[in-house]
Amino acid sequence: MIRLVEVGPRDGLQNEATTVGVEQKVAFINALAAAGERDIEVGAFVHPKWVPQMAGSEDVIKALPTLDGVRWSALVPNLKGLERALACGIRRIAVFTAASETFNQKNINMSIQASLDGYRPVVHQALQAGLSVRGYVSTVFVCPYEGDVKKERVLEVTQALLDMGVDEVSLGDTIGAAAPNDIENTVGYLLETVPPQRLALHCHDTYGTALANVVAGLNLGIRTFDASAGGLGGCPYAPGASGNLATEDLVYLLTRMGFDTGIDLDRLAQASGVMEAALGRQLPSRQLQRLRQLSRSSCAGSP
Ligand code: HMG
Ligand code: MG
Repeated sequence: MIRLVEVGPRDGLQNEATTVGVEQKVAFINALAAAGERDIEVGAFVHPKWVPQMAGSEDVIKALPTLDGVRWSALVPNLKGLERALACGIRRIAVFTAASETFNQKNINMSIQASLDGYRPVVHQALQAGLSVRGYVSTVFVCPYEGDVKKERVLEVTQALLDMGVDEVSLGDTIGAAAPNDIENTVGYLLETVPPQRLALHCHDTYGTALANVVAGLNLGIRTFDASAGGLGGCPYAPGASGNLATEDLVYLLTRMGFDTGIDLDRLAQASGVMEAALGRQLPSRQLQRLRQLSRSSCAGSP
């Protein structure tokens, strides 16, 4: 069984120019859960001036139902963010830092060390309140400002997050520039110290290498992958970051490779359709477009 973490409603929408309303977000998220998604990142308690698309996260979370086996989560950058998360009752949060200084400075306006120091009380208080916590490390392979990133630095930051008590660290190819040899080199190195069940791979698909990178991760024993419905996505502080790996494309690949994901591809395409209607444009997932074409040709063929 492979665990997918759906980041479309957060990583996907944070970079959209079109404002998506609370009702549309809630409809999208409910449709994702109905398709079988079990881990869905639904918002971010970041500064609304920095990322306006995440401004209504409290309202989205309050409008979501409690569903058996489904976890909603949201990004939290500091204690103020945790306060907002606790106030709306979400049970899982994610803290996020980077392996390159310049990116971290631009993304959260502080050094890596300052962010780790700031996260220690955030993670501690969250765990005490009964929440679970995920960690992200961005720019694990390539930084848009500094170029190639050293694997030793990635291990230091990953280990610091795990030592605080996060239950897994998602390794971000933030600008989608990595290739399978990068995964083997950096993730392989981390796995000498960190058990595979503590790591997830978060691929963006800027250069079309995301699926190949997933296969490299699978070969190393990684079993948790982040993806975004329809291939929505990007990062406002990483020039060149395009959409995340599309969940539909990942589900097709994994199913074809014999892995179970628990996700129904047709229903997932319906969920992405909710967001296509809200944004007024087609999403880039190849599988999504293939399914659209199939349904168009079967409609054209019907009497
Ligand atoms: P800052 O301006 O340095 O914060 O922002 P500050 O501590 O100096 O406070 C300034 C003001 O912001 C204060 O208000 C605070 O109360 C307020 P004032 O006193 O001036 O009225 N403030 C907040 N308000 C609401 N919620 C908060 C909050 N914190 C402070 N949580 C901060 C620092 C981290 C908040 C800011 O830089 C920020 O929000 N950054 C978010 C960036 C972001 O969301 N980036 C995208 C997500 S990361 C990503 O996409 C990568 C990932 O997908 C993995 C990958 O692909 O690699 C995860
Ligand atoms: Mg991302």
